Amino acid sequence: MEIVICKTKEEASKLAAQMITDAVKKNPKLVLGLATGSTPVLMYNEMAKAVKAKKVSYKQVKSWNLDEYVGLPGTHDQSYRYFMNKNLFEKIDIKISNTHVLDGMAKDPEAECKKYEEQIKKAGGIDIQVLGIGSDGHIAFNEPGTSLASRTSVVYLTPSTIKDNARLFFKGKEKEVPTRALSMGVGTICEAKKIILLAFGENKQNAVQQMVEGGVSQFCTASALQLHNDAWIFCDEASAKKLKLKKYYAWRSATKMGK
Ligand code: F6R
Repeated sequence: MEIVICKTKEEASKLAAQMITDAVKKNPKLVLGLATGSTPVLMYNEMAKAVKAKKVSYKQVKSWNLDEYVGLPGTHDQSYRYFMNKNLFEKIDIKISNTHVLDGMAKDPEAECKKYEEQIKKAGGIDIQVLGIGSDGHIAFNEPGTSLASRTSVVYLTPSTIKDNARLFFKGKEKEVPTRALSMGVGTICEAKKIILLAFGENKQNAVQQMVEGGVSQFCTASALQLHNDAWIFCDEASAKKLKLKKYYAWRSATKMGK
């Protein structure tokens, strides 16, 4: 794991966006795994700026998103399809037909998940997977107690995730948040060739500490990334606060990145 600790989330988002821009320039047919939530928004804005400045093009890039709520159509303003269209796809030159988000309205959700895994495999696998982290240490919607070998499937949200996500729903009401989602599994995520995880803010302190310095455990599914040999964790100072070796990580990553 490479832990990059920046003063601000703005700085961390710029570095992460640059990593993606460089990778797309190198391989215009890159396969991206994408995340929703508030964390990657600044990074998506930076990626869009690079497209606007004609530094990079996503015309041949394909993407697969991590997850989607069961029961929300892509037109619902809290669906992850809607989020991706608004926060990234409409701002870059990617072909919408090359973007994939699980269908939360699928009649046969398990078949939808199986199809998704097959599509990713056919595309040659994910080159770079973008992740956020839940305050309970989840990646995608893989909540505590999920097997670290799990594949894309129907999953059940914890009360803590429902509470965290309620702020985005009608009047912030927890009962508006779907209790189930379709989500890439931890095993699926860990097959990506490179991982970029972003973590910002004080409420991610415990999750970040567990992910990086706790044992590998299904109680914090992000800890599975300890077994990945090209995982980059971009933190701001607030989320990195509880890391015991934060000075060492900061020095090591700065040296490696030539800063
Ligand atoms: C989103 C996702 C989630 C979020 C996590 C953090 O597609 O899979 O794991 O990354 O819940 O959410 P935010 O960024 O809103 O704190």
